[in-house]
Formats: sequence, C-alpha cells, structure tokens
Amino acid sequence: MCIMGNPLCAAGLLAVFVISSTLFINNWHFRVHKVFFGNGTLEDDFFMKRNALVHQLNARREEILPFLNSFVIEKLFDESKHFSHQSFESSHLDSLESESNVSPRSFMDTDHIGCDQLVDVKVVDILGSGYTKVVLKALLLEGQIVALKTVYDQGTDMGRCLEDFNDPLGCHELVSFKLKKEIALLQRLQHPNIIKLRGHCEDSGGAGGVTVVLEQGDPLQMIALLQSPWEERFRVCLGLTRLLHYLSHSPLGSVALLDFQPRQFVTVSGELKLTDLDDASLTEQTCQNDQDCVLYFPLRNFSLPCSARGRCEGLNERRNLYNAYRYFYTYLLPHQAPPALKHLVDRIMNATGELKGDVNDTLEAFENVLHLYKSGVHLDSLPSSLIREMPQLERLLPYYAVIRGMATSGNMEYRCWPSYNHHGCLLSVHSAMEAAFICNSHAQCTSFSLNKQTTWAGRLLASFRSGFSHLVPDGNSEVYMKKTKTSLGTTL
Ligand SMILES: Nc1ncnc2c1ncn2[C@@H]1O[C@H](COP(=O)(O)OP(=O)(O)O)[C@@H](O)[C@H]1O
Ligand SMILES: *[C@@H]1O[C@H](CO)[C@@H](O)[C@H](O)[C@H]1NC(C)=O
Ligand SMILES: *[C@@H]1O[C@H](CO)[C@@H](O)[C@H](O)[C@H]1NC(C)=O
Ligand SMILES: *[C@@H]1O[C@H](CO)[C@@H](O)[C@H](O)[C@H]1NC(C)=O
Ligand SMILES: *[C@@H]1O[C@H](CO)[C@@H](O)[C@H](O)[C@H]1NC(C)=O
Ligand SMILES: [Mg+2]
Repeated sequence: MCIMGNPLCAAGLLAVFVISSTLFINNWHFRVHKVFFGNGTLEDDFFMKRNALVHQLNARREEILPFLNSFVIEKLFDESKHFSHQSFESSHLDSLESESNVSPRSFMDTDHIGCDQLVDVKVVDILGSGYTKVVLKALLLEGQIVALKTVYDQGTDMGRCLEDFNDPLGCHELVSFKLKKEIALLQRLQHPNIIKLRGHCEDSGGAGGVTVVLEQGDPLQMIALLQSPWEERFRVCLGLTRLLHYLSHSPLGSVALLDFQPRQFVTVSGELKLTDLDDASLTEQTCQNDQDCVLYFPLRNFSLPCSARGRCEGLNERRNLYNAYRYFYTYLLPHQAPPALKHLVDRIMNATGELKGDVNDTLEAFENVLHLYKSGVHLDSLPSSLIREMPQLERLLPYYAVIRGMATSGNMEYRCWPSYNHHGCLLSVHSAMEAAFICNSHAQCTSFSLNKQTTWAGRLLASFRSGFSHLVPDGNSEVYMKKTKTSLGTTL
C-alpha cells in the first residue's frame, strides 16, 4: 500500500483519480450509445433512473438557493430547466465574486485562487477523506501550501449514488453539489473557527468537477489531544464554543451542524476550525406542537416548546451545544483543569450536559474561565515568596537565584507530563513563581528557564531540567537556579 507523506504515492493517487474520472466519462458515452441502439426496456429503465437523478440534482440546486444572492438564483433556475452536463461551463459560484455587487468585500480577500493557479499544482500528501470528499495537500506554484477538496470517487456517497443510478457522470455532478454548498457557506460564514476559503475552481470539462481551495490544517486527533496540556484542550473547547455562538447568530440564521463529529474539524496552529460544512442545516424544524420539537440523543432526549410561528425555535443551537458537550467537553475539559477553576469547569459541564443554559451563557462562562486563567488568580493559593527577590519564607523552602540575560547549554533534561515537547519538561506557567512552585514539586528539577515564548493564552513557557553544563548569553532568557537549604549555607 501507499505510505502517507510519500509524494510519488500522492501523485500516483492523483493519477488514479484522473484516470477514474476519464473512465467515468467513457462509461457515460458507452451507456448513451447503448440506449440509442438498444430496445425499449433498457431505454425506459435508463430514463426512469435519469429522471430520478435529475430530480435529485434539482433538489440539491434548490437546497443551496437560500444562501446565494438573487443574481445567482436566476442563473440556477435557468440551468435546472435544461439538464445538461455541459451546463456548468460557466460557474455560477464564480459569479458571486465577479458579477455581483452585493457580495461582501471579504470574498475578494479570501476566495481568490482560481482554476489558473491549480494548473501547475503539486500534490504532496493526502490529508484525509470522508464519505463525500477527499482532501489533498498541495503546493501552489507561488510556493503556498493549501488543502484541495474534491469529490471522493471511491467514497460512500459516490458508491451509493452509483448503486442507485449507475451513472458515473451524473453522480459526480450530484455529489459535487455538496462541494458547491460548502463553497457558498464558506463565503458567507466567516469566523476564526471556520476554515478559510482560499479559492475554488469549477471544471469546465463536463464532469461537474469542483475543487475547493482551503487553508491547510491538521485533522483533529482526539487521542493526541487527550494527552496534551489542559490549556490546549481548553483552547479547542473555547474555539468550539465561540464557533457555536457565531453559528447561532450567523448571517444565514441559526445553523445546525447535523454531522457533528471531531473528524469534521481540523486545527490550524492549535486553533480549532470547522472544515466540513456540507451537512449544515439552515432552517429550524417546523412544528405543530411541542412533541414535534424533541432532540433525540442516544443517552438523553430534550424537548423544546413549539413557537407561535410553528418553529422549534432554538433547536439548532441546542443540538450543537449538546453535541459539543458529548463529543468535546466531556473528553477534553474536566481532566487536569487547574484546581481553582475546577468548580467553574464543572458548572459548564453540568449546564451543557443538561442543556440548562443557551450558547450565550456557555460562551460567557468560557470567557470567564479564560479571563481568570490568564490573570493568574487561580494561583493565589501559592506561597508568594519562592523567588529570591522576595525573601521571607526561603528559610523553609528552597529558593531560586535569578540570572538574567542568560540561557543554559548542555542541558540534562528529564521528562514530565504534560510537556509541550517530548524529550524534556516544557510547561506553561503564569509567572516565575508558578514555575518555581512546579520545580519544587519535581524531585529532578534543579533549574528552569523562561524566555519570551508564550502560549496562545499569553502564558510563559518554562523549561525545567535536572542540570546543565554552562550558561550562554541570551538577552531574551532568564535562568532560575534552585538553592537548597544546605547549599544556601555554603553559597552565602
Ligand atoms: N483544510 C483541511 N486541512 C487538512 N485536513 C482537512 C482539511 N479539510 C478536511 N480535512 C480532512 O479531510 C477529511 C474529509 O473532509 P470532509 O470535508 O470532512 O469530507 P466529508 O464530507 O467526506 O466528510 C476530514 O475529516 C479532515 O480530516
Ligand atoms: C428488450 O431486450 C430484452 C433482452 O434482449 C428482451 O428480453 C426484451 O423483451 C426486449 N424488450 C422489448 C420491448 O423489445
Ligand atoms: C428518547 O425517546 C425515544 C422515542 O420516544 C425513546 O425510545 C427513548 O427511550 C428515549 N431515550 C431516553 C434516554 O429517554
Ligand atoms: C448536574 O448536577 C446535578 C445536581 O448536582 C446532578 O444530579 C446531575 O447529574 C449533573 N448532570 C451532569 C450532566 O453533570
Ligand atoms: C446572544 O448573543 C447575541 C450576540 O451577542 C445577541 O444578539 C442575542 O440577543 C443574545 N441572546 C440572548 C438570548 O441573550
Ligand atoms: Mg467530514
């Protein structure tokens, strides 16, 4: 089998995609041929299937209408009157940018890579695939790395369609609508926790092929995330909550993510981003009475009132929030939370697990935890005099001598958990004092360093070690050396 990361292998796979697309086209012609020269039964069967497919294609078109502007809507209606594989040679999504004066300025800023830039693209890796799409890591001619999303011809979605209609080209077009929906949604929904659209290309070759160009992320690895520091896990949950708040009040109304799973997200430099948007629902369920507004989950059901307008108002938001609880918060949030913040985290867990609060309440609670965590109030219980510059308790505690403008060399590292690096002990701290407290609690620790490096939350990164051979000048670094009570006697 192919080994990931092997460029030859990736190129080979891309070749397979191209070849299989060509086969589909040939197969299509073959079928058309058969119909022309076959007898009535075959023809009837063919046209029945074809009508069903045309019906589905039109349904998909109508599904994306609500979030396209009026100019594009006209064009789409036009197209659905005459079903033709050639009908996509001019792109209605492109017209969003070039021909519409109502499109936000940001379309131009973000969605600008077109078919031209994809001609000389070099595929370097396969980033992932799902039921519908495959995502390739690619190097553009200008040297930019991007993620390219296209229809996954070997995927479940394509397979099901082929089973039903046995029409490769038509199925390719049908599945492509999911990508078109995603492009339209990415143009309208912009948020730091939604993957950035860099561009798109609609193939004029007749296969209805669509390529979405996205910023490249790293597929979310839950197992790895579970082993990472609480700060990073909290960041993912906070990003998710900010995203849900945005989706509840988005320009397109309250958006529900129907297929809410970690695999629909990636991280970009540690920040969570939603990448799979084709399964988003933009409408609140209609209802006659309260019994119509029930959210079913494997372990719990929730019911909401049916509003006077006949909508399950708030259902989309609640669905997202409970999914956030069951797929993310439960696994990522409570474990190893700072003791002083534990009661606040527990309150978030309880409120979301019971759907007691809405997304606004949840976000407020998260931002409050972030504020407290950044301000270091959770450290108030630490003894305040570990550093030599404030010497009151140092007779009882080890204390630290500070050497500013120096870094260490020839380090003797030890490993700790949950370290930011694998070979040593690199932890985030609020201050030198917290680092001293940590060093005290590690038997191997004899010194630690701080430099100007900080985490996303603005906390310092402290590296702890059991020893080093010498000091080297470094304007950005401070070294804190532990002095035990006995060495205190000899050094002073
Ligand atoms: N921008 C991206 N960067 C890196 N990996 C991505 C990106 N977008 C998607 N992926 C990976 O590709 C997989 C499939 O993409 P997705 O849009 O979820 O397709 P599907 O609709 O088939 O589920 C995702 O689960 C994710 O791991
Ligand atoms: C079409 O051809 C098939 C197989 O050749 C045959 O069984 C069937 O009766 C034919 N139908 C008509 C309407 O001629
Ligand atoms: C949720 O509702 C369904 C259908 O009414 C029911 O079968 C199921 O037992 C309920 N689940 C829980 C956990 O209450
Ligand atoms: C929330 O708290 C209540 C009361 O303390 C408890 O009974 C319930 O099980 C908790 N629910 C969750 C989801 O943690
Ligand atoms: C929630 O927050 C949004 C945006 O900040 C605001 O428009 C909305 O009114 C708030 N909803 C409630 C119920 O407070
Ligand atoms: Mg997916």
